[in-house]
Amino acid sequence: MSQDTLKRAAAQAALDYCLAKIGDDAVIGIGTGSTVNHFIDLLAPHRGRIAATVASSEASTARLRALQIPVWDLNSVAEVTVYVDGADEINPALEMIKGGGGALTREKIVAAVAREFVCIADAAKRVDHLGRFPLPVEVIPMARSHVGRQLRALGANPEWRQGVVTDNGNYIIDAHDFYPIAPARVLEERLNNIAGVVANGLFALRPADVLLLARPGGVETIRAR
Ligand code: A5P
Repeated sequence: MSQDTLKRAAAQAALDYCLAKIGDDAVIGIGTGSTVNHFIDLLAPHRGRIAATVASSEASTARLRALQIPVWDLNSVAEVTVYVDGADEINPALEMIKGGGGALTREKIVAAVAREFVCIADAAKRVDHLGRFPLPVEVIPMARSHVGRQLRALGANPEWRQGVVTDNGNYIIDAHDFYPIAPARVLEERLNNIAGVVANGLFALRPADVLLLARPGGVETIRAR
């Protein structure tokens, strides 16, 4: 079974999960990435059953709009009913590394407004300890070298993701060699305190509430330990 088949199975499970518990006034938060793209496609025939979506990237917004799924500005929403997004790594506490696609800042903002965060992932994303996946850090362009030096001082090996500009007009630095990251909350806060850092890809202060993990034998519903 291919990884993409597993991603689609996780997305289908998320759609079933959402439709079973939300009303027609629901606002669904939409993450970013290949797993979420399946979710968007599967949501399209059911768009009449929700009020709208809010999106975490220009790419997801474009895909939603192309399928005539309404997208609202997050500023017009007091609460997101449920946020559905993928992850690059997720541990047993449902803390994640995200941002492989560079959308981490908007993802973190939508997650902050969400009543419930549902992570959808294929089995390859499940890890015991975070940090083998390089940790994305979004930085203000003029702070790139400064943030790189600070990351090096913390023991990481920073690599500028050249040629990439985020939806917010910023750069991404991928911090290698932080493995194992524990406690993740401490590192998340520490990185947030570096001048010039907009956001980092650790989602530990606001972890997922539910993980729908697709394995060849089926999709498992996992809650935080
Ligand atoms: C986007 O910036 C990321 O946070 C994605 O959620 C993450 O990279 C998972 O992407 P895939 O679903 O494409 O694996």
